[in-house]
Amino acid sequence: MRTKLVAGNWKMHMTHVQAAAHVKSCMAQIDAKSNVDVVICPPFLAIPKLSDALRSSHIRLGAQDVFWKESGAFTGQISASMLSDFNVSHCIVGHSETRGRFGKLETPESTLPFFSETDLTVNLKIKALLFRSINPILCVGETLAEREAGRTDEVIQNQIRGALQGIEDAELYFFVVAYEPVWAIGTGKTCDSAEANRVCGMIRQTTREMYSSELADEVRILYGGSVKASNANELFKQPDIDGGLVGGASLDPNEFSFIVMCA
Ligand code: PGA
Repeated sequence: MRTKLVAGNWKMHMTHVQAAAHVKSCMAQIDAKSNVDVVICPPFLAIPKLSDALRSSHIRLGAQDVFWKESGAFTGQISASMLSDFNVSHCIVGHSETRGRFGKLETPESTLPFFSETDLTVNLKIKALLFRSINPILCVGETLAEREAGRTDEVIQNQIRGALQGIEDAELYFFVVAYEPVWAIGTGKTCDSAEANRVCGMIRQTTREMYSSELADEVRILYGGSVKASNANELFKQPDIDGGLVGGASLDPNEFSFIVMCA
């Protein structure tokens, strides 16, 4: 039986002061006895403060990205060992926004070269996280053009195979995948729950083919993309959806707590 997981991805929102007030409110509202794993992924600069604030809480701390080298001349980067110093337990990898693939159409295509995450860098990041015992939350998903061309499953299978290359099954027991259709992120358009469940099932089947049934049954597969209070229940009822990666709605402590309750 997989425990449901709800992760909040705050993206580039909240100063460290706002972040502390926000988690205080979440801690007050989210039932410590509930059988749901909750992770909050703030911007890097809020991590030290939240590490203290969450010390005796059941809410876990996550990061939004990592660099794969331990240290060195890599200006602007943060390593897995730096995250583990602050008790970061999870880290998002390969988010469509770090891959330069945005759901919001007003983001110009010309920004793409500034992001340029690839399956190879995702793979290196996952290995660096596993080395430091931080659980990766691997994001996969298709753009609208890929969906309309009937390429959804192929795109996602390639992302998973690329991300997990050279990684043994024993390392992946706490691994999390988030299916995030790019066209549903920050757009208010949610993937139909039956279709989201089908894709999550396809992801599970891919891990079964790559590794084993045992691993496929353990891996938690989340849905992300405009999850909100009004659709969380329907999404989380689906047998292959083990929770959510929540962006915009995680910025409101009341709504986020309600979504956790749905899980
Ligand atoms: P959203 O973002 O919930 O605002 O669509 C989800 C995500 O990008 O992880």
